[in-house]
Amino acid sequence: MNDLPTWTEGMKLLGDGTRLRILALLKEEELSVGELAAVLEQRQSTISTQLGRLKEAGFVQDRKEGTRSYYRIAESAIETSGWKIWELSYERLQKDPRLAADRERLARTLAARREGTWLDRAAGSLDRRWVPGRSWSTLALGLGRLLDLGVCVDMGSGDGALLPFLAPASQRLLCLDSHRGMVERGRERAREGSWRNVEFLEGDMQSPPFEDLEADTVLWFQSLQYAEDPRAAIRAGCSLLRLGGRAVVLTLERHEDRRMLEEYGHMHPGFGRRSLKRWLEGAGMTGVTVERLGHEPKAPHLSLLLALGVKS
Ligand SMILES: C[S@@+](CC[C@H](N)C(=O)[O-])C[C@H]1O[C@@H](n2cnc3c(N)ncnc32)[C@H](O)[C@@H]1O
Repeated sequence: MNDLPTWTEGMKLLGDGTRLRILALLKEEELSVGELAAVLEQRQSTISTQLGRLKEAGFVQDRKEGTRSYYRIAESAIETSGWKIWELSYERLQKDPRLAADRERLARTLAARREGTWLDRAAGSLDRRWVPGRSWSTLALGLGRLLDLGVCVDMGSGDGALLPFLAPASQRLLCLDSHRGMVERGRERAREGSWRNVEFLEGDMQSPPFEDLEADTVLWFQSLQYAEDPRAAIRAGCSLLRLGGRAVVLTLERHEDRRMLEEYGHMHPGFGRRSLKRWLEGAGMTGVTVERLGHEPKAPHLSLLLALGVKS
């Protein structure tokens, strides 16, 4: 949001107590119009009007269940003109007595909703619920067993935190990292996990120390942003691939958060989609796709990119 009209539009939308209270409640839970009306002690028609405005502005989305509509914060809400204003307002209003009273009434409303079985309540909201035993890591471990990475080079592998996902899927896993501490800890982890197909090497991804390697897969998982010359790193990595081998880059889309450079030591504030595509194609890859995987749920809501290509 960089211009005056967009900023004032966001301020107008959020310059209303009811709309702010609705958003604060929806941040906690998906709610029907009736539930919102009960919590806010207002008429359903008033709530519907305000929800209509929030929906039109892209802040909330709804889904139908039977005759009821349930509202929640929209997945793409952070792209709306007023999102930054909303984040600031929410932070400032944390201790407001009205919002505290809303939260208490919300707890009572939700308690009333808790009749019926867990499955009754969970139908339609599994994506936002804790499900015993389900986590992103168990999901990745399960899906990882379907992967065949063959001879795999992990560029900027770090300290082996991803070994449980990558090692079982690889015939041979070569982990390259320029940081000695990372490499040493990685070797320890490989020993601890008894992964005999894993080797850790200290070296630079821009000039990888492999000779006569015919890799099936080369990965850059959140490491390309550290390379001084990312194009050279891609070229060097792709040159290790056999024909038909795959390159996979998971990285950040271009952003403006200086903290990533200062605190995390990134050399680049993410990348543009077109640059990644050009670099991969320039390195002999075909069928290159660069896809946005969505935003991180936590501020600063960095946007993630996944780039794939096949050596031809
Ligand atoms: C954020 S970590 C990511 C580690 C791992 N891929 C993961 O997802 O857990 C980035 C890693 O890249 C390594 N790195 C930075 N520049 C590098 C370079 N030029 N060559 C090889 N590794 C590098 C760092 O030492 C660090 O371990």
